[in-house]
Amino acid sequence: MNTVLVVDDKEMLRDSVGATLQRAGYEVLSAPDGPGALETIARRRPDAVVTDLRMPGMTGIELVQRARDIDDLLPIVVMTAYGAVDTAVDAIKAGAFDYITKPFEGDELIVAVKRAIDHARMARENAVFRTTAEGARPAASGQGPGPRGLERLVGESPAMRRVRQQVLAVAESHGTVLIFGESGTGKEVVARAVHELSPRAGEPFLAVNCAALSESLLESELFGHERGSFTGAERLRKGRFELADRGTLLLDEISEVSPKVQAKLLRVLQERAFERVGSSMTIGVDVRVVATSNRDLPRSVARGEFRQDLFFRLNVLPVHLPPLRDRLEDVPALVNHFLSLTAEREGKPARRMSDEAMSVLRAYAWPGNVREVQNVCERAAVLCKSEVIERTLIEPWLLTGEAVAVPTVEHKAQHGPLSAASAPEPGFIPFDGRQLEDIERDAIVRTLTKFNGHRQRTAQSLGIGVRTLGLKLKKWKQQQLVEQTL
Ligand SMILES: Nc1ncnc2c1ncn2[C@@H]1O[C@H](COP(=O)(O)OP(=O)(O)OP(=O)(O)O)[C@@H](O)[C@H]1O
Ligand SMILES: [Mg+2]
Repeated sequence: MNTVLVVDDKEMLRDSVGATLQRAGYEVLSAPDGPGALETIARRRPDAVVTDLRMPGMTGIELVQRARDIDDLLPIVVMTAYGAVDTAVDAIKAGAFDYITKPFEGDELIVAVKRAIDHARMARENAVFRTTAEGARPAASGQGPGPRGLERLVGESPAMRRVRQQVLAVAESHGTVLIFGESGTGKEVVARAVHELSPRAGEPFLAVNCAALSESLLESELFGHERGSFTGAERLRKGRFELADRGTLLLDEISEVSPKVQAKLLRVLQERAFERVGSSMTIGVDVRVVATSNRDLPRSVARGEFRQDLFFRLNVLPVHLPPLRDRLEDVPALVNHFLSLTAEREGKPARRMSDEAMSVLRAYAWPGNVREVQNVCERAAVLCKSEVIERTLIEPWLLTGEAVAVPTVEHKAQHGPLSAASAPEPGFIPFDGRQLEDIERDAIVRTLTKFNGHRQRTAQSLGIGVRTLGLKLKKWKQQQLVEQTL
């Protein structure tokens, strides 16, 4: 049910507007003046405000301005006296969404409020889309539009069936979900499934990687900050808790949070309220928290690194994701899933693994879990020239079974250009977050090394023309991305 705050100094008007809205199915809050309204807005987070303009103390215009400092997407409808169009225009300029002229019919009021709420919901979704797009963590491939909920989760092993049942069981509730699992086991996929299967599915889903940010950045990322609260805080900034209001917030790698932020998280989980950095105003939120950890949190608690009370608050509904080596029967389905995803993305016919190749994959320990399967499949699909991927292509990547440092652009900054000498020996090469050109460059440099710099043979082996190879190398040399001697 949507909540509407009615602000008017005249009790009779407040009551009659409130009654009309209640009959239309809204929950109604009321306040007699501006200061009272601001407090209710901060604490109760109404979906819309209907306010009179002329009130003693704080005017409606001032209220509009200050309310939007608390929540700049809160839609406000002002009630103006007949003939006072000027003040209505001022109110719109101050950020009100709409105005209605007194006296008005009940229907007129209801239509204005409904429009205001619908509009704000759309604006909120766009805002969330923006923050996710700019966020520290890009969505992993295969997590964009497409399958939703449990359909994202491939695998029919008993362990995965159990995970699906657990997801279904916890999704319905509003309780905090804590997902345990090694890196690459699918914790983020499960977190999204929980959100999509929950009553909050139509609301925002936001993620914060707690391990990626320093304490103070994480604090302002989560809780926002007031203008001028620290050097560089030139503008008011809303935190993820505010932006995820009514939705779900994924706190990735929660074990890495500092004691100070742990204390703030505990408070927001207990009281559903917090303050922005540099502000004393308490803001109420309705956020479902899903947290992940690839560390043994109880052990961190025992060592005094993680607050026990916070652990208990988070561990309401635990979900354990088993490592892939304990459910190797899921490997073929995952392989086929990633091969067809890659084919779709590249607009090419799907490749398939030969039986021999598949048995090798089924016997491998997968230290990088599902993410490693994804990497191997994408790599194979890009490098394989025929329809069937042979064991000989993929086997070298599995032998070492350990991640080799990826020579990316950052790598270049630290270690100089990619050279034949510095190119790591064949081994597992993560593809995550890498541009296709980067992967291609890697493949070309390695193949050149293998053929001792023989361009004809390299080109032939990679299925490209020698001229193309030459042009690519020339470009990369100019950009200093490869050794000049290649
Ligand atoms: N069961 C699954 N079915 C299909 N795809 C999966 C499955 N599990 C994981 N993936 C895919 O594998 C990749 C890694 O998964 P995810 O990002 O959820 O792992 P994670 O546990 O959050 O890892 P990390 O701890 O490193 O953040 C993603 O691209 C995801 O889409
Ligand atoms: Mg993750």
